[in-house]
Amino acid sequence: MAKSPYYLTTPIYYVNDRPHIGHAYTTLACDVLARFKRLDGHEVHFLTGTDEHGQKVEKSAQAAGKDPQTFTDEVSQNFRNLAEDMNYSNDDFIRTTEERHLKAAQAIWKAIQANGHIYLDSYAGWYSVRDEAFYAEGELTKGEDGQKLAPTGAEVEWVEEPSYFFDLSKWQEPLLKFYDENPDFIGPDTRRNEVVSFVAGGLKDLSISRTSFKWGIPVPDDTDHIMYVWLDALTNYLTAVGYPDEDNPDYSKFWPADLHMVGKDIVRFHAVYWPAFLMAAGLPLPKRVYAHGWLLNKGEKMSKSLGNVVLPEDLVSQYGLDPVRYYLLREVPFGNDGYISHETMVSRINSDLANDIGNLAQRSLSMIAKNCDGVIPTPGAFTDDDNALLSSAHAVLDDVRSQFDQQAFHRGLETLWKVVGDANRYVDAQAPWALRKTDPDRMATVLYVLAETIRHLGILIQPIMPDAAARMLDQLEIAPDARSFSHLGPDHALVAGTELPKPAPVFPRYVDEEAAD
Ligand code: MSP
Repeated sequence: MAKSPYYLTTPIYYVNDRPHIGHAYTTLACDVLARFKRLDGHEVHFLTGTDEHGQKVEKSAQAAGKDPQTFTDEVSQNFRNLAEDMNYSNDDFIRTTEERHLKAAQAIWKAIQANGHIYLDSYAGWYSVRDEAFYAEGELTKGEDGQKLAPTGAEVEWVEEPSYFFDLSKWQEPLLKFYDENPDFIGPDTRRNEVVSFVAGGLKDLSISRTSFKWGIPVPDDTDHIMYVWLDALTNYLTAVGYPDEDNPDYSKFWPADLHMVGKDIVRFHAVYWPAFLMAAGLPLPKRVYAHGWLLNKGEKMSKSLGNVVLPEDLVSQYGLDPVRYYLLREVPFGNDGYISHETMVSRINSDLANDIGNLAQRSLSMIAKNCDGVIPTPGAFTDDDNALLSSAHAVLDDVRSQFDQQAFHRGLETLWKVVGDANRYVDAQAPWALRKTDPDRMATVLYVLAETIRHLGILIQPIMPDAAARMLDQLEIAPDARSFSHLGPDHALVAGTELPKPAPVFPRYVDEEAAD
């Protein structure tokens, strides 16, 4: 049976800044899931891109002495380069300054308006350019110099201007009913509870247009107004599948989205405003919004002013791409805030990768090279121990799938590494090196079982470490079209007699430069 199509999205990134590890993290999680779903037989549409309108970007362009279009062209390219450098497999890269997006954003506005949910009034209140968000007086705090600050710590300014409003207050009950009927709509549970209590506390109508600057999408039929950047930005998820052309095959295939992955700071926009806009426009709602936590540099929030922003390219050049991809999703429980540091990186690289999976593959394949003439040996009958290992390598997919479906990437990896641990214990217990003289047939069976386990692990780690996995599978002569999850299990087992290339280590140890001197 064909599996359902799967549409997942990253937030679109503000082009006011160069990409840092926080941006790389959100997209990485999506990339791993996108790759996983493809290998699991789904047709996947994986979207990322850049959020290019609004005051924040306009100000950054001014500060850089550039017109906004030139500025956004340049910074958006940095995010495209990041996707390449991190080996992201996105199917599309959207920019909100594209023509297709202008059409979609104006169309959703018109749909909401035609249904009677937009009215003209004037806004007088606080606005934070950094957050691109409106705040009520009661939400503000005081900074050190007594100035008013947003709850996020961002500066706010007083705004007074004509504005169109969205009747968000009317959507309180429909939203609460929707959350209730769709318990998986928001994850993790802590975020879900926060959102539900925020909505239960009452919603105010939302200002959705501005007149005091120009860098944005004009409101249809009233071009003095620019659409509020969040209404513009959220609509990107529809633009990319062809909206407003509801006959577009991508739209019918992929909308509603299966997952919007976001950071915890923007959950309100995705789990409150976005479903309300969609309901008001008469459009289907996404299936899930998952909010992950923040990456902290040795416990501190990363910021330009603290000078502790970690750049993805620096990590990759120091530790290698696949180890960084593994580390980020293994070290920090996804959904929580977590620390990244050199020490924990080195420890993961040397223990989980070099020692555990790296050694397993290297010593097993070297024994085959040395003792079996470099060909996959012919196994005898399998013992209970052999079957136990093979079936754990095969059965692990179900557990990993359900953990990844909950975005519990750290748990999925932990589950996979249990098989790695089982395999290492199996090598120690079977001691194939000792069997060489005493029972070569049994040695052949043990090495076959190990090679077959490594084949499974190689296939299963592809979403996380695509290059390293490919090298492992190349060493077993697995054809590129025999690497999907449907090839797990005994039906596609290694064929005895297959000649293997000379094995080479896939996961080197990390040695500190000082220690190496
Ligand atoms: N443009 C909006 C999103 C619009 S989506 C319709 C935006 N952009 S952003 O560039 O500021 O942030 C994008 C994502 O990066 C957010 O999900 C945010 O949580 C994430 N991160 C930024 N810094 C981060 C960390 N230090 N750690 C983890 N993720 C963080 O918001």
